[in-house]
Amino acid sequence: MAKGIFISKTLAIAGIVIGVAALSTIIALSVVYAQEKSKNNEASPTQGGGTTSKPTTTPTTPSPSNEPWDKYRLPKTLVPSHYSVTLWPRLTPDPKTGLYIFTGDSFVDFECVEETDLILIHSNKLNYTTQSNGQLAALSAIGGGSAPSITKSWLKEETQFLVLHLDGKLVKGQTYRLDTTFTGELADDLGGFYRSEYIQDGVKKVIATTQMQATDARKSFPCFDEPALKAYFNITLNHAKDTVALSNGAQIEVQQTVFERTEKMSTYLLAFIVSDFGFIEDTIGEVQIRIFARKPAIAAGQGAYALNITGPILKFFEEYYNSTYPLPKSDQIAIPDFSAGAMENWGLITYRETALLYDEAFSSNSNKERIATVIAHELGHMWFGNLVTLRWWNDLWLNEGFASYVEFLGADKAEPDWNIKDLIVLNDVHRVFAVDALTSSHPLSSLEDDIQKPAQISELFDAISYSKGASVIRMLSDFLTEPNVFKLNLVSFIFSGVYQAVNASGDELPTSVKEIMNTWVLQMGFPVVTIDTASGSVSQKHFLLDPDAEVTTPSEYNYVWSVPIRWMKKGGSKSFTWLTEKSATNNDMKVTGDDWVLANLDVVGYYRVNYDDGNWDKLLTTLSNNHEDIPKINRAQLVDDAFNLARAKIIPTVRALKTTLYLKNERDYMAWKSALDNLDFFLLMFDRSEVYGIMQEYLRNQVTPLFQYYKEITSNWTKVPHGHTDQYNQVNAISLACKTGLEECQDLVQSWFKEWMETDKNPIHPNLRSTVYCNAIAAGGAEEWEFAWNKFKAATIPIEADKLRSAMACATKPWLLNRYLEYTLDPQQIRKQDATSTIVYVAQNVVGQSLAWDFIRANWNYIFTQYGGGSFSFANLINGVTKRFSTEFELQQLKQFKEDYADVGFGSGTLAVDQSIERTQANMKWIAENKESILEWFKNPV
Ligand SMILES: *[C@@H]1O[C@H](CO)[C@@H](O)[C@H](O)[C@H]1NC(C)=O
Ligand SMILES: *[C@@H]1O[C@H](CO)[C@@H](O)[C@H](O)[C@H]1NC(C)=O
Ligand SMILES: *[C@@H]1O[C@H](CO)[C@@H](O)[C@H](O)[C@H]1NC(C)=O
Ligand SMILES: [Zn+2]
Repeated sequence: MAKGIFISKTLAIAGIVIGVAALSTIIALSVVYAQEKSKNNEASPTQGGGTTSKPTTTPTTPSPSNEPWDKYRLPKTLVPSHYSVTLWPRLTPDPKTGLYIFTGDSFVDFECVEETDLILIHSNKLNYTTQSNGQLAALSAIGGGSAPSITKSWLKEETQFLVLHLDGKLVKGQTYRLDTTFTGELADDLGGFYRSEYIQDGVKKVIATTQMQATDARKSFPCFDEPALKAYFNITLNHAKDTVALSNGAQIEVQQTVFERTEKMSTYLLAFIVSDFGFIEDTIGEVQIRIFARKPAIAAGQGAYALNITGPILKFFEEYYNSTYPLPKSDQIAIPDFSAGAMENWGLITYRETALLYDEAFSSNSNKERIATVIAHELGHMWFGNLVTLRWWNDLWLNEGFASYVEFLGADKAEPDWNIKDLIVLNDVHRVFAVDALTSSHPLSSLEDDIQKPAQISELFDAISYSKGASVIRMLSDFLTEPNVFKLNLVSFIFSGVYQAVNASGDELPTSVKEIMNTWVLQMGFPVVTIDTASGSVSQKHFLLDPDAEVTTPSEYNYVWSVPIRWMKKGGSKSFTWLTEKSATNNDMKVTGDDWVLANLDVVGYYRVNYDDGNWDKLLTTLSNNHEDIPKINRAQLVDDAFNLARAKIIPTVRALKTTLYLKNERDYMAWKSALDNLDFFLLMFDRSEVYGIMQEYLRNQVTPLFQYYKEITSNWTKVPHGHTDQYNQVNAISLACKTGLEECQDLVQSWFKEWMETDKNPIHPNLRSTVYCNAIAAGGAEEWEFAWNKFKAATIPIEADKLRSAMACATKPWLLNRYLEYTLDPQQIRKQDATSTIVYVAQNVVGQSLAWDFIRANWNYIFTQYGGGSFSFANLINGVTKRFSTEFELQQLKQFKEDYADVGFGSGTLAVDQSIERTQANMKWIAENKESILEWFKNPV
């Protein structure tokens, strides 16, 4: 899956065997694939042993009863090989019940690999029609022989099983067939087989679509719903003549649409869709590529960009993986209601509309970048994840971390002018540092036994799996390609069973590489490396945002990492060194005079860096006088490291603030973005206090030159800056200038918005719309808000609707915000997929903060039951609404909230509640310790 909307999944391969791999490229997956393919033709996946990792979150409480159906995992007795499934979704409600339903029948062929008189197969929210034997399913033996009779059949809701008791044993080595007929609800719950609705020409349209990952295939038809239990699928969809049916395979019959047998695949990658969508197509080599969307969106050309970049990205991955695209077709479809960003169903990728559809008149360059990266992410999964699949969810991070890394490589092929690979530092490394510096973090890898329940599985789809996964894989790929250090193949390393006891043959990897990676994968967090340029001493320490926090989880590596350090000296000479101990001495790092040392070049390493005071001073001076002597990614790093080291009380806060002094001269996006992300914390902590005014004044002074610079290079705001990140920084300039009250900025945005209201012709460039709308609505009243709301309801392109939706949360009148919050619980007003992010937008607004918090507390039962399905959004909701919390009163409220709703639960937000409590405590302490000195510094910023 791709990340959720603004932020937005361990890997053990079924017994993959690695041979000697090519040394010259980073990736030669072909070896892996060839073996996986041959593996695919074998009967049963190997159920491998355990890991040496530490538990992530709440261990499963042992069930009181120990019957097989009380466990969440399938017994290892049966292995499916083939399913034939026919489904008939009804796109109009049942006249009697008013419900939308689907009916289905299916059979599954499975081999008995261990004698048993019990069949457990996953099934959730399905009603079964009794078979001629009087039971919920019928059993027969394949290829002659007889099958035992089913004596009792029932559904176990809690663990989501159809349970079948037999009057005799299934025989080892024999294949059986299980037939079922069932009905399910085609609900609007964004999970399993569900419905999505939209309005076209004033008429409500309904489509049937799916989202199976992680554990919702069982909501569509009875199946052995674990990723390692790959099988072939023959899918048939019944549907009206004027609709199109799509699934993983290519269509081979019309009327009733019958699909060719799939490749051997996991249940979580299945997809079935019935819609009346249009499409555009192209052929790349032998592969048919189609983009599907609502007909008007296709007619408006909104699928063209996706179609244009899919070919080059597919080609790139074929080379990168050294393996041809495994299927005859690649369909990509934009679904109006979708909970994640996108889903990598094999051959039929589903997207949120905003992650696939591009329209020059409405889409910003940031929207375009998201489309390119999400497409690259999902296409990356077609090999890594789909062809080669994790055995169980506990090592999800490899799947998602890898996809989150290669998305940058794929997008770079599609858009070579963007320098997009740099942005992983801001978008993933810096972003996840914030979460991974808390004691409530968890290691990348989890123990298989700790991940059992569906909620535990969805909790893994978090920033650690995606962004830390991507960061650590990027670091690995960097040092593995270092010719004199390790000539090793990344993927053969990853798949060689370092984290799961798979039986690797061929050349053993050097133990040192395993040991290096284990320090990053099996323990949570990351180090701060401290370099003392006076003595040449280099040391490391677990970096924790809260200096008083205590780590209670032991690590066999004692929170010491094997740290690859790329570094440079003043003048540009570059070196590479390892720090594998707590501390060491490196005489090369001893410098005198005005020489300095800068470490973690381009932030390829997953760690922060601190220096002795003298070196810090020299780096700050260099920033002020010749900032381009420091590479741009490291300018962003100096800012981000300084602010975070200050929060951890490792350096004074004033030194962090000093890194912002040079911004007057900075025109590059990365350092500005880094500074704004960090100053956002200051704004959050102080926007309800007296520090606010003076801080505004300082920031206004810093940003004014940037604002004027953009005014000049855009000829008085009439042109679009050339570079991709220059366009981003223009948005930063306007956004900060307006937020800090630069009058010229406020006049500008209000005049644009006014012109739009008066002429009904939108003069605002798509890049600037989010910030212009927000600032104009904040300055305006009911009239501006209503105008935006009407435009939001009338918007035919979701990208435009999203900009308006976030901007409406910028209103400064409490009644407007409260009414807006109420709208989030009415799917007629705000789509379910957008509810939680809208609430978070309101909470970001200082006026909306307490309103949003009161609102979620008052409505938790409802929000949880109605909106609990989305995998990632609950953690976002809780973290988003409590981000500003920094008082004793708010801490007590948060603890009370945890207590009050303990019985209802927090689903995928469980961990987020604890993270929020920890964060609130840290914020309180930080304010108490820093407020005075910050106030003083802003008065006299030198
Ligand atoms: C599945 O479909 C393929 C065609 O794609 C067909 O050859 C095969 O017989 C079907 N299998 C079953 C069990 O119906
Ligand atoms: C692992 O491989 C070795 C040699 O390749 C073989 O002797 C052993 O039986 C294998 N173990 C398992 C559990 O497959
Ligand atoms: C810049 O644009 C503003 C508003 O559109 C206009 O009032 C002003 O005269 C322009 N200035 C220049 C130098 O063109
Ligand atoms: Zn993914």
